[in-house]
Amino acid sequence: MAFETILYEVDGAVGIVTINRPDKLNALNTHVLNELGEVFSIIAGDAAVKAVVITGAGEKAFVAGADISEMVDYGPAQAAAFAARGQAVFSSIEASNKPVVAAVNGFALGGGTELALACDFIYASEKAKFGLPEINLGILPAFGGTQRLSRLCGKAMGKELVLTGDMIDAAEALRVGLANKVFAPDQLLAEAKKTAAKIAGKGAVAVRLAKECIEVGLGVDLATGCVLERQAFAVLAATHDKKEGMSAFLEKRKPVFKDC
Ligand code: COA
Repeated sequence: MAFETILYEVDGAVGIVTINRPDKLNALNTHVLNELGEVFSIIAGDAAVKAVVITGAGEKAFVAGADISEMVDYGPAQAAAFAARGQAVFSSIEASNKPVVAAVNGFALGGGTELALACDFIYASEKAKFGLPEINLGILPAFGGTQRLSRLCGKAMGKELVLTGDMIDAAEALRVGLANKVFAPDQLLAEAKKTAAKIAGKGAVAVRLAKECIEVGLGVDLATGCVLERQAFAVLAATHDKKEGMSAFLEKRKPVFKDC
């Protein structure tokens, strides 16, 4: 399927989604959000794609935010609809049945940081800059930014970034636990793809259930999360991949997973 605002390619078992509006620093308008939603529904249904990397086109930006030129004339009803659309698409990325790595190659502001936060984890270029500058526009982050940043980095860090609108660099993002790793700009995509390919080499059912246990578990109390975890563990005991993984260990060979 051809997209106008994103690029989508598959490299081995890894899908690579590139937000592609470099002249607007990959700002997210409704068209981009719709295409992101579409590509993630294609990915969900494609068993050959087992992990995903998201990045931004060009040298400068991952995503410089929601498109301000689209939002400038929004009244409350349109603003609510736009936020709902962004939240729905980002939630679908967060809940994707495939792991998603954000490769943040430059500015990740507003919706850019929010998109990265909806991914499973973030790899950043040394040139990356993160921030939620919406407060400077008289608004607030509404694609999940007031929620996911505090959950990942703590309430105080969430409040500081949301209330000041300040940017932080990659080293600070690493320090506060926003980015998992930082790479030289020319290494970032290769490293993100390498990690995605590593995960893609595991059994897909175990990967999916492990991701789901962590995602759903964070939204419930510990005891409920542990029930979920042991039920997922029980389901995996019925899979070919569990038998293969354990047999391969005992036979001192590499497992051959079949994702079932
Ligand atoms: N929405 C719409 N357009 C945007 C955009 C956004 N969030 N971010 C950048 N652009 C556009 C600029 O308007 C400009 O377009 P033009 O060439 O047609 O004038 C182009 O992208 C390049 O941006 P520019 O501001 O000229 O680059 P810069 O290097 O001087 O500054 C930033 C880079 C990221 C610091 C600056 O673009 C910026 O602050 N962007 C907005 C960030 C923001 O507030 N995001 C949250 C939105 S809710």
